[in-house]
Amino acid sequence: MKNVLITGGAGFIGSNYVRLALQTHLDWNVVVFDKLTYAGNPDNLTDIAKDFKGRYSFVRGDIADREAVFGAVQDNNIDIIINFAADTHVDRSLMEPGAFITTDVYGTFVLLEAAKEFKVSRYHQISTDEVYGDIDEPNRSREEDRLHGSSPYSASKAGGDLMCLAYFRSFNVPVTITRGTNNIGPYQYPEKVVPVFVTNAIDNLPLPMYGDGRQMRDYQYVLDHCEGIDVVVNKGVPGEVYNVGSGVETRNIDVAHAILGLLGKPHSLIQPITDRPGHDRRYAIDNSKVRALGWTPSHTFAQAIEKTVKWYVDNEWWWRKIKTGEYLDYYRKQYAGREVSAK
Ligand code: NAD
Ligand code: TYD
Repeated sequence: MKNVLITGGAGFIGSNYVRLALQTHLDWNVVVFDKLTYAGNPDNLTDIAKDFKGRYSFVRGDIADREAVFGAVQDNNIDIIINFAADTHVDRSLMEPGAFITTDVYGTFVLLEAAKEFKVSRYHQISTDEVYGDIDEPNRSREEDRLHGSSPYSASKAGGDLMCLAYFRSFNVPVTITRGTNNIGPYQYPEKVVPVFVTNAIDNLPLPMYGDGRQMRDYQYVLDHCEGIDVVVNKGVPGEVYNVGSGVETRNIDVAHAILGLLGKPHSLIQPITDRPGHDRRYAIDNSKVRALGWTPSHTFAQAIEKTVKWYVDNEWWWRKIKTGEYLDYYRKQYAGREVSAK
């Protein structure tokens, strides 16, 4: 059996990965290590705790807490560390950058120290295409491109990536990195654009569209991303970085129209608001390196958005309780008074 520490496993992508990993690797014991910030949600793991009793356990802890991390790695005799834990939302990083540096940079350093000390067989870092900054058409970011993050979030993630590569080069820690594009799918906290738009549309509330809505992202289905991560964890070469994404970009305005069309809601719900400061115009990646390991995405954008919308329609129990209290305070602070009239 292999003992695998999955940090941030109570979040959106982490919980989807934990489910996939336990289904596909029958020789893995998984320990989720998660601080349970506002974005960490035990509801994301309820079925896993039931279905995989005996191969799954949970430790509440902070990746920036050396004692807690070293304890979890030593006590569970960990062979592999996969780090999903991060502060992840660009808009929150513009409001309060400090937590991003603590978790995404310092926390990554603490995990790398544990990987080095306990000689794990693999340390895998979940990163993002945002570390490249935006890129003009028709170009695509490649793994060797310079890092040029625009927000405190992307700069912190770039710091984490560089620390990983330094631990590979200086200490031979067997590190791999995946840089994923924007994910959509089940269990995404409703601060990211797709769950904001879907849950607002269900309730006939405005869809807040930054700027002209012509910014482009590569929106991939979360399970495609998780499969890409899994291929790299198992077949990737230490010291190497792999972009993971569909390779197809969609404009935010088209995402909004797709969601409203699927839900049968009026397109007049789209509400232009003032733009995000430093807003990256276009992310686009070259995914040929991960494809060479045998991975291909299984969902088109149309399939991914349809499955995602259906999940939120079918799982109101999950998101309605989130859209209360702290969330509403955040929403007001983030969006109030930003409406601009449509051109
Ligand atoms: P999320 O915000 O849904 O979840 C983050 C998880 O990390 C939560 O469970 C939270 O409790 C935990 N966490 C935060 N700080 C922690 C700390 N100090 N110690 C321990 N746990 C902590 O995030 P997500 O969208 O699932 O993203 C997961 C990873 O994937 C992140 O590293 C993110 O940068 C990366 N990523 C995300 C996307 C995307 O579209 N969401 C795209 C590419 C890469
Ligand atoms: P987001 O989901 O925050 O991901 P990221 O900024 O990490 O790519 O935003 C995706 C795109 O959607 C981005 O161009 C900003 C835009 N956006 C809106 O137009 N309105 C919103 O309310 C949000 C949250 C994002």
